[in-house]
Amino acid sequence: MERISKVLGLGVLFGGAVLAFTLVSGTPQASFAAGAPPPAQQQTAEDVYLDKCAVCHAKDGSGNTAKGRKVKAKDLRSAEVQKMSDKDLLDAIANGKGKDMDGFKDELGMPMVTALEKYVRTQFGNK
Ligand code: HEC
Repeated sequence: MERISKVLGLGVLFGGAVLAFTLVSGTPQASFAAGAPPPAQQQTAEDVYLDKCAVCHAKDGSGNTAKGRKVKAKDLRSAEVQKMSDKDLLDAIANGKGKDMDGFKDELGMPMVTALEKYVRTQFGNK
């Protein structure tokens, strides 16, 4: 009987240690891997860009994707795009541009639209 309770005790200790370790090392990535979707408000502009924009504008901003070439998405790194004013870039992202780019302000909200405009500047431009 003593033996059994000793084994049980160890089991509880071990279980506790595993739980503690999981809690301490439980990074958000680990829980995504387990299938939990990332909470929307924690998405960075980069996450959203890759999710919503890269299909046309490409990961590197070049517009060099099958869809980007089809709709003629301009190279976001080009002087032509980077010389546009913040207001014009914001307007394009918020309200859409031309016949092929839809606006994103309703879907993403203005704070994320603003973050995406900054991302387009910092990632693909020089500021
Ligand atoms: C369906 C393809 C498509 C998607 C998705 C898309 N765009 Fe565009 N985007 C375009 C096209 C095409 C233009 C150019 C329209 C024009 O100049 O007539 C454009 C224009 C722009 C511009 C203005 C610069 C320019 O080339 O005129 C910015 C900035 C931009 N997009 C950012 C984004 C961001 C940020 C997202 C994601 C939230 C996004 N786009 C999603 C196709 C797309």
